[in-house]
Amino acid sequence: MFSAIIYHLKEAKILKKLSHLLSICIGFTITLFVALVVIYFGGYPSSSQPIITNTPPIESNEYWQAPSLSEIPANDEGDLIRYGRELIMHTSVYLGPKGSVKPISNGMNCRNCHLEGGTKTFGINYAAVATGYPKWRERSGTMVDVPERVNECIERSLNGTRLNEDDEELKAMVAYLKWVGKDVPKGTLPKGSGVKKIANLDRPADPQLGKMVFDKHCIECHGANSEGQMEPNGKEWLYPPLFGEHTYNMGAGLYRLSKFASFVKYNMPFGTTFDAPVLTDEEAWDVAAYVNSMPHPTKDLSNDWPDISKKPIDHPFGPFADEWSEERHKYGPYED
Ligand code: HEC
Ligand code: HEC
Repeated sequence: MFSAIIYHLKEAKILKKLSHLLSICIGFTITLFVALVVIYFGGYPSSSQPIITNTPPIESNEYWQAPSLSEIPANDEGDLIRYGRELIMHTSVYLGPKGSVKPISNGMNCRNCHLEGGTKTFGINYAAVATGYPKWRERSGTMVDVPERVNECIERSLNGTRLNEDDEELKAMVAYLKWVGKDVPKGTLPKGSGVKKIANLDRPADPQLGKMVFDKHCIECHGANSEGQMEPNGKEWLYPPLFGEHTYNMGAGLYRLSKFASFVKYNMPFGTTFDAPVLTDEEAWDVAAYVNSMPHPTKDLSNDWPDISKKPIDHPFGPFADEWSEERHKYGPYED
C-alpha cells in the first residue's frame, strides 16, 4: 500500500517534469519564431531613413598600387585627369597665395601629405577614395562625397577657402582621384591606404622629448623653427613647414596626435617607407606632441562632431562624452 502511494507520487513527478519540459519547448519555439520575424522585418531599414552605417569593407590581400600614368586616356577626360594630378602635385602654383588661378590656400601642396600624388603605401594615399565615397562622416555629421572631401582638406589641411562645385580645379582633382582608384573593387579596403596605425603609449606623449626628436631628425629639412624651405620658383615648398601660420590648422587630421605619429613614423624622415621605419613609436608620438603643441592656425570647430560620443579619443577639443580633460585627449595616455 505504502509502496504504491510512493510509486504514484513518483509517476506524478515525472509527468510534471514532462509537462514542464514541453512548456519550455513551446516557449522556446515561440521565442525563436518571434526573433526570426523581428530579424526578417526589422533587418531592412525603412525607406524613409537614410542608411548611415558604412558597411565595413573587406581588406584586400595585396598592397594597392596606383595605375600607371600611361593609362590616362588621350582625350578630354584624360586632360582633366592630368590637370587634376598637376593640381595635387603643385597645388600652390595654382591655388596658393601667389596662385595663377585663385589665391585660396596656404601654400602647401596636397602631395606634401598625400605623398607621391597620393600613391604611396601608407602615405595617406587615395586608394580608398573612388569606391569609398559618398560616405557618412561623423566629423561633419553628414554624407560626404569626393568634392566635399577635397574641400574639407582645402579648408583644414590647406587652411583655405573651399572651391565651388563648378570650378574646373575641383572637377579636375575629383577626376584624378576617381581615376587613381579606378581598379579598386567596390566593397574592398585596399591594403596600405590611409596611415598605418601605431601602438598607444602607456604615458602621455611628451612635447619636450619630442623637441629632441625634432632637432635630431627633422630640422635638417623642415628648419629649426619649422620655417620650411621654398622651391626656387618661390611658389611652393621644397620642405613644407610643420607649425606656424603657413601650415595646417587645428581642424586638420594631422592636428590629431595619432594621425601625425602614424604618418611620420612610416614616412619621415623623407624617403622612409613603412617596412623600414626610422623612428620608434615613442619618438613618433613625442615629435607629434611637440609639433602639435606649437602654434597652428585656428578654425571654428563648433559644428564638428555633432554627436560628441563619436569624437576620436585624440580630438583635443571638448565637450567630451567622457570625463577626461582636453589635455589628456590631446596627449594621452589613451588606455588606463
Ligand atoms: C597637411 C596634410 C594634408 C594636406 C596638405 C592635404 N591633406 Fe588630404 N588628408 C590629410 C589627412 C591626415 C587625411 C585623413 C587620412 C586618414 O584619416 O587616414 C586626409 C584625407 C583626404 C581624403 C580622403 C582620403 C580617404 O581615404 O578617405 C581626400 C580625398 C583628400 N585628403 C584630398 C586632399 C586634397 C585634394 C588635398 C589638396 C587640395 C589635400 N587632401 C591636402 C592630410 C592632408
Ligand atoms: C630629408 C628631408 C626631410 C626630413 C629629414 C624630414 N622631412 Fe618631413 N617632409 C619632407 C618633404 C620633402 C615633405 C613633403 C613631401 C612632398 O611634398 O613630396 C615632408 C612632409 C612632411 C609632413 C607633411 C606636410 C606638413 O608640412 O605637415 C610632415 C608632418 C612631416 N614632413 C614631418 C616630419 C617630421 C616630424 C620629421 C622628423 C622626424 C621630418 N618630417 C623629417 C622632408 C623631410
